[in-house]
Amino acid sequence: VILTVTLNPALDVTYEVAALRPHATHRVTAVHRRGGGKGVNVARVLTALGVDARTTGLLGGATGEQVRADLDRHAVPHDFTPISGETRRTLTVVAEGDATLFNEPGPPITDHEWRAFRTHFRELASAAQVVVLSGSLPPGVPEDAYATLATAARTARPTAAPLIVLDTGGSTLMAALAGRPDVVKPNAAELAAAVPTAPGPQAAAEELRAEGAVAVVVSLGPDGLLAVTGEGVWRCRPPRSVRGNPTGAGDAVVAALSRALHDHRSTGAHPDRLWPQALADAVALSAAAVHAPVAGEIDHDVHARLRARTTVERL
Ligand SMILES: Nc1ncnc2c1ncn2[C@@H]1O[C@H](COP(=O)(O)OP(=O)(O)OP(=O)(O)O)[C@@H](O)[C@H]1O
Ligand SMILES: [Mg+2]
Repeated sequence: VILTVTLNPALDVTYEVAALRPHATHRVTAVHRRGGGKGVNVARVLTALGVDARTTGLLGGATGEQVRADLDRHAVPHDFTPISGETRRTLTVVAEGDATLFNEPGPPITDHEWRAFRTHFRELASAAQVVVLSGSLPPGVPEDAYATLATAARTARPTAAPLIVLDTGGSTLMAALAGRPDVVKPNAAELAAAVPTAPGPQAAAEELRAEGAVAVVVSLGPDGLLAVTGEGVWRCRPPRSVRGNPTGAGDAVVAALSRALHDHRSTGAHPDRLWPQALADAVALSAAAVHAPVAGEIDHDVHARLRARTTVERL
């Protein structure tokens, strides 16, 4: 099973309006509500691919209940730790083909709740081959939370330690590297912010490896992926640029990489085969996610068509 963690999930609310004007009153023509957050979206994509995934994290209040109900509706297996605070919402206003986002910070987490989550997480991680740690941290959770969880996952399963995939930015990313994540997936902006002195993405990725990341896969928007690993450096570009909604494309990259690592774990194939196949699938799947209008959804036809036409270059 692939376990995905979202410590700061959200109820993603989308408003459609004809045009967005500051200081004006707007008539909302359509409202969409769905459970969101990066790890939740990764689990949605994996479930859509028929992969055995489970999602966990912290949920509270009536908004947390709405997230749970939405995951039930979409048959995404979940097992969250309850908190006393109210789960946050994000608001996206879609108007004239463009989106404006409002992201609430999330409820403060108490020491007791963070400890309860760690206990729950150890139990879930003991059944996982791959653990995905995604997104920002809510207030009250220590900055090195992901390093703590990575270490906890490995001690929960000492003979067959799960592989750890990390997708976050800023100081949370830097503090997580002490946990030696197996794959880190920053986008170009997150990587540049993490290593501002590096002359380019490859040098910056090498810097993250020196700080503790085992492999780094940088997502470069419509330009695809750059993987800097102990086995080599690879570049993978989509055969064509896709129009649509790029929000959540990074989550599709993480889903594809996690699935590849999971399959690699069970077959024991050589890494020279793992990386080209994992990257080509990640590029095709993320393009399919851009094509689908809602974050966390993929277009299966686009995935299959682009997968056949995506090539990987070894640098
Ligand atoms: N317009 C596009 N056409 C084809 N593929 C795309 C396009 N935009 C993004 N992708 C694919 O999606 C991947 C992830 O995109 P991006 O680098 O924007 O991730 P991100 O910023 O982490 O996204 P998010 O955090 O919103 O999920 C890219 O590496 C690329 O393979
Ligand atoms: Mg991202």
